[in-house]
Amino acid sequence: MARVAVLPGDGVGKEVTREAARVLRAVRPELELVEWPHGAHRFLESGETITDAELGELSSSYDAILLGALGDPRVPGNEHARQILLGMRFKLDLFINFRPVRLLHERLCPLKGKTVEDLDFVIFRENTEGVYVGMGGTFKQGTPDEVAVQEDMNTRKGVERIIRAAFDYARAHGHSRVTLSDKANAMEFAGGLWRRVFAEVAREYPEIEREALYVDMLAMDLVRRPERYQVIVTGNLFGDILSDLGAALVGGLGLTASGNIHPGRVSLFEPVHGSAPDIAGQDTANPLAAILTAALMLRHLGDDDSAARIEAAVQAAVLAGETTSDLGGTLGTVAAGEAVLRRLG
Ligand SMILES: NC(=O)c1ccc[n+]([C@@H]2O[C@H](COP(=O)([O-])OP(=O)(O)OC[C@H]3O[C@@H](n4cnc5c(N)ncnc54)[C@H](O)[C@@H]3O)[C@@H](O)[C@H]2O)c1
Repeated sequence: MARVAVLPGDGVGKEVTREAARVLRAVRPELELVEWPHGAHRFLESGETITDAELGELSSSYDAILLGALGDPRVPGNEHARQILLGMRFKLDLFINFRPVRLLHERLCPLKGKTVEDLDFVIFRENTEGVYVGMGGTFKQGTPDEVAVQEDMNTRKGVERIIRAAFDYARAHGHSRVTLSDKANAMEFAGGLWRRVFAEVAREYPEIEREALYVDMLAMDLVRRPERYQVIVTGNLFGDILSDLGAALVGGLGLTASGNIHPGRVSLFEPVHGSAPDIAGQDTANPLAAILTAALMLRHLGDDDSAARIEAAVQAAVLAGETTSDLGGTLGTVAAGEAVLRRLG
């Protein structure tokens, strides 16, 4: 039996996670869902974000973490969100940010003439290094001579493990090509490391073609001919940007799921959207990204059948137009969750 820590978090995170949990209970009643109260409310009351002991408990006593969203206008700078989310990503060493980009219905794609077969790729974004490590500083801050330095940290170990994860995924899923995206022409030191390691690792997967594209080229090509792409591997910053481009190609934030993964260890699954304070508490948030995130989590836990059932139910609800208004429907959050639940049979 699997044990899942559920952190609904803030704002619409609470509303969409409730629907995802209902779907999980419907397909896997024996799953143990343990709710964690972490978020702005707890931070404002007690000053607590997440402790090292709690991170230890997550890794020793849970199989997965399901997160809603973190961010609250009452916490200026969102320091609770940063500490909880980045705390989990960095301290649990969740080095893979896995973002599937799959179109459920043609009408959701802003590109002309693209079908559901044309948009089906995954992004492996490095999740623990790059410019997100916060190395750098400022000099002469607040003066006309101010200098800001933000370092882009890339380690051999970090680069190798994300590239290997992308090739392993490609092999396991019968894909024929892995695309590396970087900016090796302008960032020659980091780019050089990524390209050397990419070529080395690729030799262990002779049946898989490798290609390396500058990120500007790839961004353009993803809009022009997304059907070429199967598995994309990239650094933290470019992965962040490309994943949002991918989200826009398949219907936006209301449908996009992600995993923060360390194979063999407790991993974290969350919808890509934030806590959307502008619509929180109005029963208008789309719960489908959170529900698809739950499916992604089940697949990671080895339950492909339940994941496929959930994905099929979501797709059927979208095809029937039984969705929230961001996807053109008229339902509220709870009713959109029920439209999926009904289709689970
Ligand atoms: N991983 C996370 O927890 C995460 C990610 C992004 C932003 N945030 C935080 O969320 C807060 C709001 O950030 P933001 O406004 O930049 O991003 P956001 O994703 O919360 O919202 C962006 C826009 O998309 C809409 N939207 C988001 N989720 C939706 C849903 N499920 N259904 C329908 N519409 C939806 C919102 O109404 C808003 O107009 C901030 O505090 C931010 O730091 C958290």
